[in-house]
Amino acid sequence: MEQCMSEFRVDLMAGKVALVTGGGTGIGKVIARQLGLHGARVAICSRKLEVLEATAAELASEGIECIVFQADIRDIEAVERAVAGTLERWGALDILVNNAAGNFPARIEDLSYNAFKTVADIVLQGTFNVTKAVFTAIMKERGGAVINITAPFEHMGVSWQAHAAAAKSGVISFTRSAAAEWAGLGIRVNGIAPGEIGQTEGVDRLADTLTSETQVRRVGSPEDIANAVLFLASDAAAYISGVNLYVDGGSGVDMLKVPVYE
Ligand code: COA
Repeated sequence: MEQCMSEFRVDLMAGKVALVTGGGTGIGKVIARQLGLHGARVAICSRKLEVLEATAAELASEGIECIVFQADIRDIEAVERAVAGTLERWGALDILVNNAAGNFPARIEDLSYNAFKTVADIVLQGTFNVTKAVFTAIMKERGGAVINITAPFEHMGVSWQAHAAAAKSGVISFTRSAAAEWAGLGIRVNGIAPGEIGQTEGVDRLADTLTSETQVRRVGSPEDIANAVLFLASDAAAYISGVNLYVDGGSGVDMLKVPVYE
């Protein structure tokens, strides 16, 4: 297996099976790769089979066992097929990363009723669909770790993002409720709120509305998010559930966004 650039033990995820939604591209692909480089077997799903297959081939070339499922997370039957297929193949599913999302910048007045519903269906309902399917099929019995990729919009309004912010805030609330309800079943449910992460389609498209003035003076990388996933999915986080962990270089706590030290 290729050496992974990471602070974590290389076999941190040995014996674990993970499902990463939206794992064919962007942050999801890097999360899948990092889980795999640390020993997990990884299932990825998204809408585009050819994209998934290309990613799986790339991961396989690094020694990662990866299977793919074409599944729009709005399609409950496709989601259930992906979960069942993972269990059929590997007999386990320990880690779920709800990463898939859909978004575009738009003012409220330009959002059609269907536009708002579409983003809510993908982000909030889709997260529920996959989480419920995994819970029912395996985690209720065996426990596990669910990690929801949220957003740092928890306490703020966001112009041009009313639809996505509302949906992501719903995911944060669902994260807490599921953490509370399932604590006795050995299921931990946590959120990760990425700040401004470079090298992603989402940030490229929203770039005009973003700033890179974070406390750590750099834009985040998908690996920063994947590292947080590794931590929260690992036994090192055994006593952590229901949090929404900001991975944003401190920008979320910076009121003025004026650097004091260069
Ligand atoms: N501004 C305003 N409305 C928009 C829009 C935009 N940029 N893009 C889509 N919509 C509206 C559509 O007009 C449609 O509403 P209508 O039926 O009233 O016209 C509604 O949203 C659904 O759009 P559609 O393209 O039919 O939905 P879809 O399910 O095929 O795809 C997305 C929805 C969000 C996934 C799509 O915008 C997309 O593919 N985005 C890029 C991928 C992505 O979001 N990645 C995540 C990055 S964070």
